[in-house]
Amino acid sequence: MDYTVMMPAAGSGTRMGAGHNKLFLELEGKSILAHTLAVFQQDPWCTGIILAVKDSERTKIKTIIQQEQLTKVCALPEGGTERQHSVKACLQASEAGGIVLVHDAARPFIKQNVIHELVINASRHGGAVAGVKAKDTMKYVTDGVIEETADRERLWVIQTPQAFRYEVLKEASQLAEQENFLGTDEAMLAEHAGFEVRIVESTYDNIKMTTPEDLAYGEYLLKKRLEETV
Ligand code: CTP
Ligand code: MG
Repeated sequence: MDYTVMMPAAGSGTRMGAGHNKLFLELEGKSILAHTLAVFQQDPWCTGIILAVKDSERTKIKTIIQQEQLTKVCALPEGGTERQHSVKACLQASEAGGIVLVHDAARPFIKQNVIHELVINASRHGGAVAGVKAKDTMKYVTDGVIEETADRERLWVIQTPQAFRYEVLKEASQLAEQENFLGTDEAMLAEHAGFEVRIVESTYDNIKMTTPEDLAYGEYLLKKRLEETV
């Protein structure tokens, strides 16, 4: 079942503190960006990759694409100031149709079986996002005082990929723009527009490389994965 992936890669990596876009940091000798792109290059269901980039990084990213023979990358639109704007730039760059996935370039450890489950669910229901069950107890706190304990059975930690029928994502994105609604993920935009969004259970190791500790864990995950495939 075919899909197109839209990948925001135009962030600054402030929390990583590397002084430049964290996606250029290397794990086992290859950039985080190259690792994430490789997952989709290798997935036979993926027919195209649209990557939102900063103009100032376009040349560097084109070099990575050539070196790693990432032939599925078909557009490099300019990203925006917020992640949501970068995803919008991807949507504007393509009339993809069919199923589209949005996936953070900073999540290199996504597994193919989860991607495929998402595509199947988005095709059936309109939208589906990757998530894992919350492990910790969660509470609502105001001014340092606990107000309420959330029911953990119903709490999920949401990741990407987030998969949608193209029209669903397009409509949700347009409505958000009209109403100046800023969401932290695409599911929020789809929920806001009244669409049903399903959860597909993912894995805890589908981490977003965000702070320096993630680099050591990322190296470990990559080594483990290479051992598994030998
Ligand atoms: N992203 C983007 N455009 C933005 C902000 C983020 O394309 N204006 C991308 C990032 O490159 C990343 C993904 O969205 O692949 C998830 O964002 P995040 O992990 O928050 O990355 P950064 O915004 O780069 O990091 P930070 O928030 O620490 O600055
Ligand atoms: Mg950010």
